[in-house]
Amino acid sequence: MFNADEFIEKSLEDIKSKVTGKAIIACSGGVDSMVCAALVSKAIGDRLLAIYVDSGLMRKGETEEVRDMLESMGINYKILDAADDFFGVLKGVIDPEQKRKAIGEKFIRLFEKEARDFGAEFLVQGTIAPDWIESGDGKHKTVKSHHNVGGLPKDMEMKLCEPLWDLYKDEVRQVARKLNVRSSERQPFPGPALSVRCLGEVTPENIAIVREACYIVEDEIQKAAAAGKMDLPWQYFAALLPIRSVGVRADERAYGRTVVVRAVLTKDAMTAKYAQIPYEVLDAISTRITSTMGDTVNRVVYDITNKPPATIEWE
Ligand code: XMP
Repeated sequence: MFNADEFIEKSLEDIKSKVTGKAIIACSGGVDSMVCAALVSKAIGDRLLAIYVDSGLMRKGETEEVRDMLESMGINYKILDAADDFFGVLKGVIDPEQKRKAIGEKFIRLFEKEARDFGAEFLVQGTIAPDWIESGDGKHKTVKSHHNVGGLPKDMEMKLCEPLWDLYKDEVRQVARKLNVRSSERQPFPGPALSVRCLGEVTPENIAIVREACYIVEDEIQKAAAAGKMDLPWQYFAALLPIRSVGVRADERAYGRTVVVRAVLTKDAMTAKYAQIPYEVLDAISTRITSTMGDTVNRVVYDITNKPPATIEWE
């Protein structure tokens, strides 16, 4: 049985003995990286620099929210504006594995530069058990290369520190609550961010569509849960499909984009069931997306597939 207090005590000792010099951590704002930042800053204080990369692929309002969180945690931090770098390496890339690897590599190169400037030898990462199990560890087959695992280049200069390596998400949340990390209940968000919710080419225009659709899905589901119409699913979001379909708008033929809504229930993300969202809520989502984004999106569908055979994300 997992004991969060024991885990914290042991990992503080491990970090203190392992991380002898300076370290940097990539903070996305998610529970994994924020717990790591809290743990490592407890262990080594100002020798840690937290970096949030604004990749241009983040959700609506996310950069401001993470800045606020880092500020309130009293951690040494820096925000990098790297949208052009990411859209640059993603140009023309359609294959999901290539996307993940291109993003992983770009992250690492940016961090190597920041680490050199800061004089850090260590890179702290919030890798958790499902990340490396699904990325293929020799015993398990590769399902998808989680960007913090599969994207690491062979010639990486930094030493890795991954305090959450053996933990599953529900255990990370227990640790987060003990450490008062604000994102303890935040739904997971993949490392490659909205790029894996944008099937086909990742362009600023496509990301803007999926960003707004994700925002609407999150907002409508959170409102419905707050009004007691449903329980909050484990994860809920939208993805943009790389297809067009025929519709009608103001009596004219339209040829628009399709957004898929996904919401799942799971304990550890290794298997999942699609959430049986009330039709009333699905209707509110669909109506809001097509009325506010009707120039681009003319079709909204709901994904009713479990994992397996699907995965939670679409890429
Ligand atoms: P899948 O899509 O593999 O996702 O069923 C399982 C959980 O992991 C999240 N996910 C990621 N998390 N880096 C991460 O840190 C990644 O590259 C990544 N890809 C997927 C996904 O959102 C779900 O919660």
